[in-house]
Amino acid sequence: GGDLRARMPPALAARADELGHLARDFDSMAARLEALVRSRERMLRNIAHELRSPLARLQVSSELARRDDGRLSVQLDRIEREIERLDGLVAHTLTLARLGAKGLPLQPLELVGVVQAVVEDARFEAAARGVSIEWTAPPPAMVMGDRVRLASAIDNVLRNAIRHTDPDAPIRVTLRTAGDRLELDIVDGGPGVPPDALPHLFEPFYRVRDDGRPDGEGSGLGLSIAMASIAAHGGGIAARNALPHGLWVGMWLPRAMAQASAPTRRAAA
Ligand SMILES: Nc1ncnc2c1ncn2[C@@H]1O[C@H](COP(=O)(O)OP(=O)(O)O)[C@@H](O)[C@H]1O
Ligand SMILES: [Mg+2]
Repeated sequence: GGDLRARMPPALAARADELGHLARDFDSMAARLEALVRSRERMLRNIAHELRSPLARLQVSSELARRDDGRLSVQLDRIEREIERLDGLVAHTLTLARLGAKGLPLQPLELVGVVQAVVEDARFEAAARGVSIEWTAPPPAMVMGDRVRLASAIDNVLRNAIRHTDPDAPIRVTLRTAGDRLELDIVDGGPGVPPDALPHLFEPFYRVRDDGRPDGEGSGLGLSIAMASIAAHGGGIAARNALPHGLWVGMWLPRAMAQASAPTRRAAA
């Protein structure tokens, strides 16, 4: 049967011998498999949901357009916007699938410059919201990376911070070397997220609030793409609430050593 909740009998799993050990291994594997299957189900449901809403709006618009009451161009504009939205959604979904499917070709890359460029780009949008960005950089540091993918991961996190922060609180972007890693923190001064939302932030299509979303806001793919991209670099990403308030998002990447010792350290996918 396909019962994902099946586990070893407690008496067996409690045994101290080899058989007990095996039973516990089996149980933890079954639990991981169950979580994986559940998260895939959730993702498929989310994709279907995300595709359905713009399609429903398209249908309404095309019905209204048929009425021929002189507002045809308004409806056609709406139809065009929904098509663009669907197109973006599909493109992002494909990006996510590709990032998960195979390794990225990685090149030696100076990370401080990459972050710097993303910060400079984001300053315009930040200024429009009256938000300032405090950027703290270490001396130049190398990673094995894909410039476009890394920049877009950082950009996704930073733009979230700009969108959610309280404009009176600056956003802090800090890059530092820590042993054989490079750590990048992006902290905003917004409301943060409810604790029970934290474990889901990096799931595709997950949004804390689904309603009242202004036009042009994301589809909940930004952080999942960032995570897939950082993982393709052998790094990690995590989020937690900051004190007194705000969201802290931390990313780390393995540091590439200077030419001489140059390990082509390729991350396991
Ligand atoms: N800095 C932040 N402060 C508060 N909430 C955030 C922040 N960043 C992300 N979130 C929440 O996490 C959700 C997922 O983020 P993301 O994957 O980038 O999707 P979106 O397309 O909605 O930006 C967002 O919808 C938002 O609810
Ligand atoms: Mg986003």
